[in-house]
Amino acid sequence: MECRTTKIFNLVAFSGLLGLFTSSCYYDNYDDLYGNVNACDTSAVTFSQDIKMIIGQNCEGCHNGASASGGLNLAGHQNISTSALSGAILDRVTRNAGDPLLMPPGQALSDCDQSKLRTWINEGAPNN
Ligand code: HEC
Repeated sequence: MECRTTKIFNLVAFSGLLGLFTSSCYYDNYDDLYGNVNACDTSAVTFSQDIKMIIGQNCEGCHNGASASGGLNLAGHQNISTSALSGAILDRVTRNAGDPLLMPPGQALSDCDQSKLRTWINEGAPNN
C-alpha cells in the first residue's frame, strides 16, 4: 500500500516536471521554430502582395468609382501610385489619432501597414 502511493506520487511529480520542462522549452524556442509572428517584414514589399490589399481593405470602400470620397479614386495601381507619389497618402495615414484628416477616418492603419506603404512609396511606388 505504501509502495503504491509512492509510485503514484512519483508519476504525478514526474509528469508535472515534464510538463514544465516541455512548455518552457516550447516558449524558449518559439521564435526560432516558427518565426516571430509579430514582426513586420518590410524587406520585400510589393504592390500585388501588400499594397493592393492594404488600400483595398482600408480605403477603397470610400475611395472608389465616380462618387469617390474627396474626389479621390484609389482603385488600381495607376490611381494609387499617383496619389502615393504626390505625398497625399502618407500625409493622411500618418496623422495623429483624433486628427479629422486621418485616413481611414478615426481608425489608423497598423504600424506595420504604415511601414509597408512608406517602404513601397520610397521605392517609387512600382507596379510589382
Ligand atoms: C469611411 C470613408 C473613408 C475611408 C475608409 C478612407 N477615406 Fe480618405 N477620405 C474620405 C473623405 C470623406 C475624404 C474627403 C474629406 C477629407 O479630405 O478629409 C477623404 C480624403 C482623402 C484624401 C485627400 C484627397 C484630396 O485630394 O484632398 C486622401 C489622400 C485620402 N482620403 C486617403 C485615404 C487612404 C489612403 C485611405 C485608406 C488608408 C482612406 N483615405 C480611407 C473618406 C474615407
